[in-house]
Amino acid sequence: MSYPFQITSLEQYHKDYKRSVDEPEAFWASVAENFQWRKKWDKVLEWNFSEPKVEWFKGGKLNITENCIDRHLKTMGEKPAIIWEPNNPEERVRTVTYNRLHKRVCQVAQMLKNNGVKKGDRVCIYMGMVPELAYAVLGCARIGAIHSVIFGGFSAQSIADRLDDAKAEYIITCDGAYRGGKDIPLKSVIDDALIGNKTVKKVIVYTRTRTPVSMIKGRDVWWEDEMDIAEEQIEKNGVVSFPAEEMDAEDPLFILYTSGSTGKPKGVVHSSGGYMVWTTYTFVNVFQYKPGQIHFCTADVGWITGHSYIVYGPLSAGATSLMFEGIPTWPDAGRFWDIVDKHKVDILYTAPTAIRSLMGFGLEPLKGKDLSSLKILGTVGEPINEEAWHWYDENVGKKKCPIVDTWWQTETGGALITNLAGVTAAKPSWATLPMPGVQPILVDEKGNEITEKDENGLLKGNLCIKAPWPSILRTTYGDHERCRTNYFATYENLYFTGDGALKDENGNYRITGRVDDVLNVSGHRIGTAEVENAINMHAGVVESAVVGYPHDIKGQGIYAYVIYNGHHGDEELRRKDILQTVTRIIGPIARPDKIQFVNGLPKTRSGKIMRRILRKIAEGEVSNLGDTTTLLDPGVVEEIKNGKL
Ligand code: WT7
Repeated sequence: MSYPFQITSLEQYHKDYKRSVDEPEAFWASVAENFQWRKKWDKVLEWNFSEPKVEWFKGGKLNITENCIDRHLKTMGEKPAIIWEPNNPEERVRTVTYNRLHKRVCQVAQMLKNNGVKKGDRVCIYMGMVPELAYAVLGCARIGAIHSVIFGGFSAQSIADRLDDAKAEYIITCDGAYRGGKDIPLKSVIDDALIGNKTVKKVIVYTRTRTPVSMIKGRDVWWEDEMDIAEEQIEKNGVVSFPAEEMDAEDPLFILYTSGSTGKPKGVVHSSGGYMVWTTYTFVNVFQYKPGQIHFCTADVGWITGHSYIVYGPLSAGATSLMFEGIPTWPDAGRFWDIVDKHKVDILYTAPTAIRSLMGFGLEPLKGKDLSSLKILGTVGEPINEEAWHWYDENVGKKKCPIVDTWWQTETGGALITNLAGVTAAKPSWATLPMPGVQPILVDEKGNEITEKDENGLLKGNLCIKAPWPSILRTTYGDHERCRTNYFATYENLYFTGDGALKDENGNYRITGRVDDVLNVSGHRIGTAEVENAINMHAGVVESAVVGYPHDIKGQGIYAYVIYNGHHGDEELRRKDILQTVTRIIGPIARPDKIQFVNGLPKTRSGKIMRRILRKIAEGEVSNLGDTTTLLDPGVVEEIKNGKL
């Protein structure tokens, strides 16, 4: 496969960038022509940010799975699409060719149809990192069902809320998942999530761990049985086929829930056409992908990174995507390097938190591992500190591999601000330049563009984007007004990212972190309000306030201040009860790292919690708390300072 839209020089980057801004419709039409459309679009772009309404390639008809699979079969049918590395290194690797992927996805599509799933229906997917997860995602896309993948670290209550919000009628899950030394009982979590649920009709269960599971007659069916039935239906005289549903470019492809500053996660909706174009375009350009290379993105398909850069982007580009079931530290902290060595990985894309955690094990786990196949390294999910950047560069890339620092969000569908490996310059801890089609702007609180440089000669402000790129979110599921107020109402005619950023004289951007009440813990987005709601569910808790604080490995840790009036157990036990409650309500990923019991919280006279003060205390900056005179009871601050953990 060749990529006519691949940017191969700095001059071309500037040229393409300029054209993408001057003539966006012509530019994106020329990129979109390289995909397989059943019918060409009527209009490239129609938009306004006030509703908001964004339509790309409207009237175009396609099915994304024909682009990710069918169009490669003729020339690359026997090339690996997915290489699967199991949790246990002793277990057999599975290599899924494009032909095999085609068959499996057709089978899943048929299986879904047999079980009543139709175009537009919502299918919740709660599985471990097995190839069947990719088949499930693509099988939904093939029949036009909207998938909503939920990360395995979310609790039954979180799943129940998401099922409810999406009004999902179908679930695909596993009996269990292997992660390091643990077996996680996924089906039993689903069973808990379904207590009281009235919408779900069918649960399809893939066998991975063969842990005992309850199977309810009429509702729960085994994946293996259903896939056997489907196999006979889709294969005639050795020819496999399941006609893909024709979708409009603007039909929704999937929902992915993500946290914001309110207590309730939002279902971010992405469309088919624009998302396909953007994930493929960015995959090929950011990683400078060359046919035949092996791309290893270490994310979980439960997050947007896995959707865009394990499944859709690489497959649409006809790449080989390596999917890893396990964790970086099991059986030991050399696992990533073993995988790179074993599979001769060309591109490694991971998170700063993983790098920092592996740094902590020193250089021993790298010894004897041949990393010479590596050509490009990447990071995503949070700002990377310079120390981690240099460690990655020296010890993993051996100073020979460009590192791309890709800034983006669940809502953006793919990378927006990033260097292009080896084409545009890297700058440690800077995401650097916008992709063609992306027009960033830094604004102040009132929405005025920042024009005055700070003492370091940098522009500093809130990061917004002026115009839509093809994979911008289209809505938040079931509540378009929420989409507007969250992203398009803070500043008129701008998409607000929620991040703060710096800009240097060469136009490079450095993302400094969230400016709203959203935490980034190990690259996972968690709203402080969500954690507070979960803590407040605990019977002994009167009130709580949650803030982030710098954490060496996780980037940010969760610090909770809790007013408690129960009398059960000592402090340590009370903390554990609260952690248990958070695990039940959200999941283990939202467990606070520190819980400080307090008698009061710093509030203004109008009753608003002054988080700025709590943040400073959690950060250890107790000497400079700023103005506390507006507080209702300045005395509580002293008490909180003295009790700091
Ligand atoms: C938030 C989005 C993008 C997929 C993974 C996270 C932060 C993301 C970077 C980066 C600095 C980054 C931002 C953003 N972020 N990438 N390269 N440098 N910060 O997706 O859960 O939607 O979180 O992650 O704060 O807003 P997400």
